[in-house]
Amino acid sequence: MHYPETKLPNVGTTIFSVMSQLAAEHRAINLSQGFPDFDGPQLIRDRVVHYMQSGANQYAPFIGVPSLRQAIKDKVARHYGADVDAESEVTVTSGASEAIYAAITATVRQGDEVIVFDPCYDCYEPAVELNGGVCRHVALDLPEFKINWLALEQAISPRTRMIIVNAPHNPSGVSLSRDELDRLAELIRDTNILLLGDEVYEHIVFDGQSHNSLLTHKELARRSFVISSFGKTYHITGWKVGYCIAPVALSTELRKVHQYITFCTPTPMQLAIADYMNTHPEYESELSGFYQEKRDIFCHEIRRSRFGFTPAKGGYFQLADYSQISDMDDVSFARWLTTEAGVAAIPVSVFCEQPKPDARLIRFCFAKNEETLKHAGERLCRL
Ligand SMILES: Cc1ncc(COP(=O)(O)O)c(C=O)c1O
Repeated sequence: MHYPETKLPNVGTTIFSVMSQLAAEHRAINLSQGFPDFDGPQLIRDRVVHYMQSGANQYAPFIGVPSLRQAIKDKVARHYGADVDAESEVTVTSGASEAIYAAITATVRQGDEVIVFDPCYDCYEPAVELNGGVCRHVALDLPEFKINWLALEQAISPRTRMIIVNAPHNPSGVSLSRDELDRLAELIRDTNILLLGDEVYEHIVFDGQSHNSLLTHKELARRSFVISSFGKTYHITGWKVGYCIAPVALSTELRKVHQYITFCTPTPMQLAIADYMNTHPEYESELSGFYQEKRDIFCHEIRRSRFGFTPAKGGYFQLADYSQISDMDDVSFARWLTTEAGVAAIPVSVFCEQPKPDARLIRFCFAKNEETLKHAGERLCRL
């Protein structure tokens, strides 16, 4: 027999798995994949145990348990002044990844175009392609990682179904300003273009800035899937719990897909997160300070190295330019750094359709204990 041809010829094992595996083989400090090396709050873990021990072990309602949807509704009212309906506009998913896949699958058809900004998180394009669409890549303007409005305008066509906006941005940490949201609204006002807001780092913004969610912009919110991840907010990436907020018409379509991908998300995790959100409403506002301290520790550690950097403005990654250290391309340098220097990082070119040949940028994850960051810093300063 002949096995079918691959539907995703351009997809292999993700760079995150490759670098994490290489880090493990070489006992390198793993600052590549984006996950914390510390646990989420004790209480949130205790509540999962509590719910598992008291019988909450069967399927949850497919749209999410009521207490969690209500807690999400309250949260977005608190942070963004948004008034969303917990019953018809909030859907709990198995991580932001599932919400992204479901939103794209529910709306992108054969021949549709989806605009993404490079460097771009890796899960959007395969989802678009599996649904018969194509991604149009618009490069962000470096070094500020800002939208190039002329390039965006030129990329929009009658086939544009969706624009994916990731803010705070992975890997740069850059957020969108209020003016940029207004400009986006103006640009797409007379079109039927949808927006997918990947806002998984929504509560991690530094130096007194604020995150302007698409939910803060009433006009944009009417055409948006706004997606976030409890994994990032509560240091529980392995639980894979996320959510999508969208107007009723879009939520209805997203739910049709979601119910056949996972149907629902593990019950005890949902109940535990809801309890924690209700008892600790201040937590989200404190998260930026928590991660800013980590960013500062890491930047302080590498200030005497030959890496060039501007401290990240949000998220949990620090970009660093290694052109003073090597003229290898970034994939080779990231491998070398892992095997020879004992620190694993992610090459930024993998997030780009057309990487600049002279770009010498890598990404370090600073969502790590102080000790881990200091050890990594020591090693990086030796280069
Ligand atoms: C920009 C971005 N979107 C989505 C995700 C996926 O989130 P989740 O683990 O909740 O699926 C990640 C995880 O690293 C991310 O960085």
